[in-house]
Amino acid sequence: MSDRWYEKAVIYCLDIDTFADSDGDGVGDIRGLISRLDYLARLGVTCLWLNPIHPSPDRDDGYDVEDFYNVHPRFGNLGDFAELLHQAGNLGIKVIIDLVVNHTSDQHPWYQSARSDPESPYRDWYVWSDTAPPDRRQGMVFPGEQAETWSYDRTAKMWFYHRFYNFQPDLNIKNPRVREEIKKICVFWLQLGVSGFRMDAVPFIIEETEPGNPDSPKNMPYLTELRQHLQWRKSDAVLLAEANVEPDQLVGFFGDEGGSNNRIHMLFDFMLNGRLMLALARGDTEPIIDALQDTPKLPPGGQWATFLRNHDEVDLSRLTATQRAEVFEQFGPDENMQLYGRGIRRRLAPMLSNDRARIELAYSLQFSLRGTPVLRYGEEIGMGDDLSLEGRDSIRTPMQWSLTANGGFSTAPAERLVRPVISTGEYGYQNVNVTNQRHDRTSLLSWFERMIRTLREAPEVGSGTCTPVDVPAPRGVLVHRADDDTGTMVFVHNLSEEPGTVDLSSLAAEAEQPNDVLADQEYGELGKFDSIAIGRYGYRWIRLRRVP
Ligand code: NOJ
Repeated sequence: MSDRWYEKAVIYCLDIDTFADSDGDGVGDIRGLISRLDYLARLGVTCLWLNPIHPSPDRDDGYDVEDFYNVHPRFGNLGDFAELLHQAGNLGIKVIIDLVVNHTSDQHPWYQSARSDPESPYRDWYVWSDTAPPDRRQGMVFPGEQAETWSYDRTAKMWFYHRFYNFQPDLNIKNPRVREEIKKICVFWLQLGVSGFRMDAVPFIIEETEPGNPDSPKNMPYLTELRQHLQWRKSDAVLLAEANVEPDQLVGFFGDEGGSNNRIHMLFDFMLNGRLMLALARGDTEPIIDALQDTPKLPPGGQWATFLRNHDEVDLSRLTATQRAEVFEQFGPDENMQLYGRGIRRRLAPMLSNDRARIELAYSLQFSLRGTPVLRYGEEIGMGDDLSLEGRDSIRTPMQWSLTANGGFSTAPAERLVRPVISTGEYGYQNVNVTNQRHDRTSLLSWFERMIRTLREAPEVGSGTCTPVDVPAPRGVLVHRADDDTGTMVFVHNLSEEPGTVDLSSLAAEAEQPNDVLADQEYGELGKFDSIAIGRYGYRWIRLRRVP
């Protein structure tokens, strides 16, 4: 059995400012989060990923950092953060934080110094050009909201590079002092007790940007250097990276040509995410099977992090235009539901028309496929989105805890909240909240608790292999298996509305005492292992074999 904690983790992603407000100022805070740790422990979460916690002007929801060595004063102080780590640790929950070092806020003292004085020691911490680079209207990450990647700074009288918004100047990775500073930031937080980092925008961090060269060189070896440094300071610390790149470039992020995992431990599986959405939209398993087959082999220790929803839009940019149009039609038909021409700014429940069976099916699939599952706060109770808010804010509304004012998120007057709580309609806090679901054994929350508990009794999922099984089955039914030296699980998922049967007789010889450990309904005894039923959007987790 693997000894790597992250292969068996269930990661829960949240933003402190929208989770729980302890002091009634309308903004979530660290004390609020501490008071909800028992909820997360009961859910079965083993690791929290906190969206940026640092002081920030908040023009990109904290992804514009002003000080890497502190927490945002509205969240509390470093003492509160240390307490959070202690209390989470008591409940067996690790904490990783966002590491946003591709860029800083333009309000960061480094940038302020760099722009205002050519002799500043920080001048070379950013990426400059004397003249307007010809490729300045290429490579924008937020088309429609961002016009260029190089902007003119009137104080510096030079052009500066920003892969993202123009208030997020890129740090210059060519500068050895910048590379050392990134290590120092990591070590500071490790020393406080975090278990690793969700590294933002990794392909851009290592880009040695040259004006006029849209294909600038990448400093991959720096990832090896950073990993080594971290490991020396805290041996089980992890790097979980965002690198939404072409499939043939993925393996290089895990390790060098030597074939060992000496760079990033875990990468978000953007490719599988897009294909899962396509498969759900079509009710057809083919895109998932293709994704599993197309995925490059990872070095031992390299791991995928799977997700259905995160804090950004559903990114469909790796699908073809026709495939993207299919997903848009099913899950985000209105222009107002789409973003940047490539994505959907909705939560999963509304995308699936709040069809409970389909929501369970989708999450059962995500959690049983290869890799470590990542769950976005609020998904476990089926929260909705608020499309009247700008851009990605639609999916960043406060957590809905109870029937009390503001859904129990905060006691502040509604107009002082960091963002409005969803308060009307099907997804309003009056209908969707933790308190209602906590003691209701039929609720989505109770289902998530059961599903996660079952997953944690199946160590072969996550650390073992994940293989599609070719058996006679309808187009919409996926059969896959997870194997390692602890045993084997077989999973049957029906992505379509049509109930069906699946012939599992080719697996009969391997089945010792097969039984459903989780299913959408009571299917009765498995008995002889041949043709088995699967309901509309049904799923069955079948334990095939367990090594004593
Ligand atoms: C990726 C993050 O996921 C996104 O939310 C952010 O806007 C950009 N990086 C810029 O930091």
